[in-house]
Amino acid sequence: MDHSAYEALDGAEVAAALGGDAAGFSVVLLQECDSTNSRLLADPPPDDGRVHVLAADVQTAGRGRRGRVWQSWPGASLTFSALWRFEPGAPVPAGLSLVAGLAVARALEDLGVEGVQLKWPNDVLVHGHKLAGILIELLPGRGRTPAAVIGIGINRRLPPDAGVDYPTGVTDLAACLGQPPSPSRLLGVVLAHLNCLLDIYAAAGFGALRGAWQQRNAFADLPVRILGEAEELAGTCLGVDEDGALLLQAADGVRRVLSGDVSLRMA
Ligand code: BTN
Repeated sequence: MDHSAYEALDGAEVAAALGGDAAGFSVVLLQECDSTNSRLLADPPPDDGRVHVLAADVQTAGRGRRGRVWQSWPGASLTFSALWRFEPGAPVPAGLSLVAGLAVARALEDLGVEGVQLKWPNDVLVHGHKLAGILIELLPGRGRTPAAVIGIGINRRLPPDAGVDYPTGVTDLAACLGQPPSPSRLLGVVLAHLNCLLDIYAAAGFGALRGAWQQRNAFADLPVRILGEAEELAGTCLGVDEDGALLLQAADGVRRVLSGDVSLRMA
């Protein structure tokens, strides 16, 4: 692959964008790997109190939710994963994917993107089109501190013939801003927000961030369908509860949808 044809990730620029938060991170940058999520899951770095981040200019086998592929072209998207450790014995952090989505949303807003919305459980949309996706995978404790790999892909400049097939349609930062930020600056700004929100989440739970998530809910009060469960659910999207579960006003009452492995569509 020709690595000179796009703007590569740069450690000094990431650190500059992270500012005072830089000491809390270990950031490893690769030109190419199969999948940053797969790498961190297969070979988790030691627990030294820092958040370990692995980013790649290009992934050759990027993965999305529900068995989808996260396609990669040189310079097309920022792709990275962060390993986040949580308290031993703590329940699976149900709201984590929503927190990650909120961090991406706030970072994009800081960078000047308008119309940022969140689609439960963890897509980031701009004016209804998908700009970023998140894949959270758990690393079993097995004598270690349990951890989650938070994988994030943000479209920067998709090729005109990308042909990405997604129900809402897709967009990229070039379309939103004209000139997208460098991948390194984008990474630093997202990580700074992730750091801040994960601290709040660890200390106070998702409830402390629920209001901020709801403000950006792409489907608030709209009719939706939930696909992927044994039965298909239809109703009005009421938002999320204190645990990050989706609340749906169905014909037979309010239904609480916990599984992150469902698709939410406009009815
Ligand atoms: C989705 O929208 O379905 C989730 C996409 C997640 C893509 C990111 S890119 C970095 C990390 N590594 C992967 O293989 N996937 C995630």
